[in-house]
Amino acid sequence: MSPLIFPFLLALSCGSITTPEGGFKHLTLPYATDALEPYISRETVEYHHGKHLLTYVNNLNKAIVGTPHAHQHLTQIVAEAEGALFNNAGQVLNHNLYFLQFSPNGGGRPKGALGMAIQKEWGSFEAFQKAFETQGLALFGSGWVWLAQDEEGALHILQEPNGSNPVKHGMVPLLGFDVWEHAYYLDYANRRADHLTSLWNVVDWNVVGARFHQ
Ligand SMILES: [Fe+2]
Repeated sequence: MSPLIFPFLLALSCGSITTPEGGFKHLTLPYATDALEPYISRETVEYHHGKHLLTYVNNLNKAIVGTPHAHQHLTQIVAEAEGALFNNAGQVLNHNLYFLQFSPNGGGRPKGALGMAIQKEWGSFEAFQKAFETQGLALFGSGWVWLAQDEEGALHILQEPNGSNPVKHGMVPLLGFDVWEHAYYLDYANRRADHLTSLWNVVDWNVVGARFHQ
């Protein structure tokens, strides 16, 4: 993949995010708040999307005023900013990608180019799932586990602490599971492993596959 093309692909992969003009907007969910049950409850979606994500959006819009990042694309802010601006921009990007990658009609396995790339890297989809869950379970404290693509096109599983995202390493985020307790405690209490396993049932591989570029 050409280094000149990569930044454009990266922005395209996260392209559902509005530009900063007028402030970042709170993502509208493409499904009802109870649509992901029984894997993610209505109550969790209402808190997670309706309160946690909204707070990150509001904090981002306050923190960005008067900074050199005020007119950057969200992915650029996450890649370049530090401190509170980075934390809140990262969590807006992370949660937008997270909520958009799910569907009540999700599950199954990736097809096409992404399916083949996963097969090539991990040997099987099941081996990839196991490796991904293991990384999510092993992440200490709050953070995210990501499937990401580097500028050579190769796939990686990354553990990112707190609000970080693969764009911090120049990679395209494809699939992210949130392992902050706010993502699962209402439904799974301290059983993070059960939460991670259940999420495969609602992953929309058409959305995730569209973030992948050959
Ligand atoms: Fe979250």
